[in-house]
Amino acid sequence: MTPTSPHSVEEYIMLHSVLGLVVTVVAVCSADVCRLPSHLWCSSRKTAEDCQVTQQCSAHDWRHQAAAPPVNLVLYYEALCPFCKQFITDQLYPTHVKLDGDILNITVLPFGNAEEKQEGNKWIFTCQHGRSECEGNLIATCALKTTSFNSTAYLPFLNCIETAANEHVLWPAVLKNCAVRNHVSEADIKSCMKSDEGNELEHEMGVATKKEGVEYVPWIVINGQHTNATNQEAQDDLLKLICKTYTGPKPQACTSTLTTDLSVSYKHPQ
Ligand SMILES: *[C@@H]1O[C@H](CO)[C@@H](O)[C@H](O)[C@H]1NC(C)=O
Ligand SMILES: *[C@@H]1O[C@H](CO)[C@@H](O)[C@H](O)[C@H]1NC(C)=O
Ligand SMILES: *[C@@H]1O[C@H](CO)[C@@H](O)[C@H](O)[C@H]1NC(C)=O
Repeated sequence: MTPTSPHSVEEYIMLHSVLGLVVTVVAVCSADVCRLPSHLWCSSRKTAEDCQVTQQCSAHDWRHQAAAPPVNLVLYYEALCPFCKQFITDQLYPTHVKLDGDILNITVLPFGNAEEKQEGNKWIFTCQHGRSECEGNLIATCALKTTSFNSTAYLPFLNCIETAANEHVLWPAVLKNCAVRNHVSEADIKSCMKSDEGNELEHEMGVATKKEGVEYVPWIVINGQHTNATNQEAQDDLLKLICKTYTGPKPQACTSTLTTDLSVSYKHPQ
């Protein structure tokens, strides 16, 4: 194209926008596939990559496709440790809500730095923050059982009891309040807490915690791996860590910068 001198302001503007459009099309559509109408650019990952619209496609067209296994997160914690409370209420629960259960598979083990010994046919627990912590651990363990280990059902309850958790907590009142508010059976949790089955389940939490070799709490395992660095990343910004770790198309909650990215990708060239 040989630009001729524009004869008017209108012609000048038109010439430049045509040049701009050509440059944009060349830059954005590096492959032939991008000659397809734009509504087909999200038809496959390859097409989207060629057209440099992967992120945009992920946020919209691919939202409901389960293209990769979820990220597995296992949390080892104890009921009254302040950083456990903070992690559950500021990171774990909000991230679970934002990701809508799609890409994050959460498992929690309430035991932490507790110790146990067997007396007769019962396990007796000793907890880092005293008897009250053992009670909080058992409430959470029994809530897991009561909800059949369904994280969508027990995480709102766990968030509720951890929000209330502190050294002076009155667990019976918290249990009642959180159970009612989150549609978990208070009666089932109470009877589990008194039963041999509840005692055995808390023991199993202890066995799994010792087996993992937990050195401190919260102890966060991502896809079977624990490092001090990822533990810290999870505590600082769990959503970011899960989005980074997930190998499938990122759900919308991961692409909150979409508007910014769009304006950069499609910026009119100078
Ligand atoms: C979720 O995590 C649990 C416990 O770590 C595991 O047994 C289960 O297979 C995981 N589910 C998926 C879909 O990966
Ligand atoms: C898990 O619990 C949620 C909320 O109570 C419920 O909607 C969902 O159907 C449950 N999932 C399974 C697999 O039972
Ligand atoms: C991880 O952190 C703990 C506690 O700060 C420390 O004792 C341990 O040595 C660290 N492990 C590694 C591999 O750096």
